Amino acid sequence: MSGDDADVELEARLEEQAEFEPPESFVEQANVTDASVYDEFEENWPECWEGAADLLDWDSDYDQVLDDSNPPFFEWFTNGSLNASANCLDRHLDERGDEAAIEWVGEPTDEADRTYTYAELHREVNEFAAGLREMGVGEGDIVTLYMPMIPELPIAMLACARIGAPHSVVFAGFSADALATRMNAADSEYLVTCDGYYRRGDPLDHLDKANEGLSGVEHEVSDVVVVDRLGDDGFGHDLTDTQRDYDDVVAANEGAEVEPVERDAEDMLFLMYTSGTTGEPKGVKHTTGGYLSWAAWTSQAVLDIKPEDTYFCSADIGWITGHSYIVYGPLALGTTTMMYEGTPDYPERDRLWEIIEEYEATQLYTAPTAIRSFMKWGSEFPDQHDLSSLRLLGTVGEPINPRAWKWYYKHIGNEECPIVDTWWQTETGGMMITTLPGVKKMKPGSAGPPLPGLDVEIVDNAGDQIEPGRAGYLTVQKPWPGMLRTLYKNDERYIDEYWAEYSDTDSDDPDDWVYFPEDGAKIDDDGYITVLGRVDDVINVSGHRLGTMEIESAIVGVEGVAEAAVVGGDHDIKGEAVYAYVITEDGYEGDDDLRARIVEGIEDAIGPIARPEQVVFTPELPKTRSGKIMRRLLEDVANDEELGDTSTLRNPEIVSEIRDQARN
Ligand code: WTA
Repeated sequence: MSGDDADVELEARLEEQAEFEPPESFVEQANVTDASVYDEFEENWPECWEGAADLLDWDSDYDQVLDDSNPPFFEWFTNGSLNASANCLDRHLDERGDEAAIEWVGEPTDEADRTYTYAELHREVNEFAAGLREMGVGEGDIVTLYMPMIPELPIAMLACARIGAPHSVVFAGFSADALATRMNAADSEYLVTCDGYYRRGDPLDHLDKANEGLSGVEHEVSDVVVVDRLGDDGFGHDLTDTQRDYDDVVAANEGAEVEPVERDAEDMLFLMYTSGTTGEPKGVKHTTGGYLSWAAWTSQAVLDIKPEDTYFCSADIGWITGHSYIVYGPLALGTTTMMYEGTPDYPERDRLWEIIEEYEATQLYTAPTAIRSFMKWGSEFPDQHDLSSLRLLGTVGEPINPRAWKWYYKHIGNEECPIVDTWWQTETGGMMITTLPGVKKMKPGSAGPPLPGLDVEIVDNAGDQIEPGRAGYLTVQKPWPGMLRTLYKNDERYIDEYWAEYSDTDSDDPDDWVYFPEDGAKIDDDGYITVLGRVDDVINVSGHRLGTMEIESAIVGVEGVAEAAVVGGDHDIKGEAVYAYVITEDGYEGDDDLRARIVEGIEDAIGPIARPEQVVFTPELPKTRSGKIMRRLLEDVANDEELGDTSTLRNPEIVSEIRDQARN
C-alpha cells in the first residue's frame, strides 16, 4: 500500500470514529487518572475546592471555603490572604530559580529569543513593581496595560499583582477609542504600553494609537510607561513629560525588592473588559484567591501541566485565555510557559511547528479558528517538523467541528495526544466544560462533561431541565471559585446579565440562583455537552467576542449613515464573520467611498478584528410591526440560505431585495 493509500484509509477510519479513548501513554503519566474524582467532588461540595486552594501558598488560612450568604455575590476562601505574584514567582525560586519561567519568541526570525528564568523574572518584576510604587501606584489603583505579546506584559501584570494594584489589560489590536473607553470606565490613571511591535515582518506603530487613546481619557492620567520594543525600527516618537521609558524605570530600581502585598482572597486581582449585549463593554472582576486557585487547578487537571513541561498556548495575553493559561495558571505551577509575538504564518506557514520542535513543547493550547487555517494550509507544514514532544492538545474559544478536531488529532497529535476541547468564558475565569484527559473518552464536536464539582444543566425557556439531544440553554447551577464576582462598579448589571434570566432574584437561598452564560447547548446520554454558540447579540469572530451593538454604534457614527444592523454569518476560517446592513441618510449614496468610511469607522472604534466581511446598503431593514429588527432574517441573507418566515414583518418584501443586493 502506498503512503497515499494508507493516508486515505486512515482518514476514512477517523471519519467514522465518533469516540476516542485517552491514549495509554498519556494516561500512565497524567496528573489526574482516578475517575472517582467526579463522585468525590459531588459528595464533598464545596469543600472539594480546598484541593485547588492547596495548590497555592497562603499568607493566612481562609476560614470558610464558600460564603453563600448573599447570592449572587458569592465569596470564596474568605479571610484567607495571599499574593499572586509571590505564588507565581517567589515560592519557585528555591527549586526552580534557574529554570525557564518564560520562553519568548519574537516574530523576526533573525532576532534572538529571550529566556527568563524564575530568578530573572522575579528580579525584573520586583524592579518594575518598585518603579510603579515610585510613580504613586498604590494598592487598589487600576493600571491599564496596552501591550502586545512581549515579555514586559506578563512582567507588568505580576508587578501590579505584587503591589496589589489590579491590572486591566487591553488587547493591543483594539483601537485608540477602545483603550479610552476602558480607561474611562475603570478610572485608570496609569498606563503601560510600548512603541510598537512586529506583524508579518513590518513594525507597527503602537504608541501613536496609545497616545490617541490617551487624548480620549476624561480624567488625568498621571504616568505612562513605554516599553521600547522596536529599537531602531521605531517610529521616533518623543516621550512626553508624563511618559517614561520602561528600561529607565527598571534601571533606576536595579536590585530593588518589593515585599509582596498580602491581599485578601476576595481582593480584585484584575479587571478584564469583554463584550456584551449592550454597547458598553463589561468590566469583569476577578479575585486573588478564587481566580488563582481555579487557573492553577484547571492548568494541572486539564492541561496536565507539570513543572518540567514546556507548555505553549498560542493565544494573546490580551484575552482571558492568555491571562489564565499563559500567565497565571502555568506560572503558579512553576512550569515553563512560551510566548510567541507573531502570526503563525510568518515567515512561513510552519512557524508554530518550528517553535514546537525547537523548544520541544509538551502541550499546545490553541483556537479552532487557527486549526481551520492550519488545515487549509495543509499537513505538509506540520509534517516538516518533529512534533513528538507534544503530549496534549487543547482548543478554546468556539465550537470545533469534528473534521477540524480529527485533523488536529492526527496531523498535530499523531493520534498520541488527547485533545481537550475546553468551554469557558472571560467571566468563568477558567475552564468549565471539558474532559479530564487522563480519565474520560473524547467525542469530537462535544466539549465533554462539566469538570468535577460543577453543576451544569441544559434548560428550556422556563428554566426546566430538558432531555438529552434537544437544544436548550446552558446554565451553571452552583457557584465555583473562579467565577467573576461582579461587573466593575455595576452590581445591578451583573445580576441582570448573568443571573436574572433563571434565578429567583428575590431569594436569599443560594440554590435559587442560576448562572446563565448566554450560550445555547445540548447534552447527550453520557452527559457530554455540545455548545452551540451565543444566544445573545454577541458574535464570535475567530474566537473573539464582539458585540453587535458596539459595531452598530460605530457604523451609525459615520457621516451619511442613518441606521445599521449587524449580524454574524458563517465563515470557513473565522467561524463567524461580521455582516453589516446599512441605511444611508438622505443625500448620501451607498457607494464604495461610504463603504470604506464605514470600515474605517469600525476599525477606529474597535479594531481590525471587527472589520466587516460585507457591507450591504439597503433602503430599509426588516422590521416587525413593533419595530424590532429581525436579525434572524439578516443571518439567512449573510449565510445565503433560504429565507425564514417573513410573515411577521411589516416590510416582508425588503428581505429578498437585501439578498439581491448582497449577491451583487
Ligand atoms: C465561546 C474565551 C464552544 C462561547 C475563553 C463562550 C466556546 C464564549 C468554547 C466566551 C468551546 C468558548 N466550545 N464555544 N470550547 N470556548 N466558547 O469570553 O460562546 O472570549 O460564551 O472566553 O466563547 O468567550 P470569551
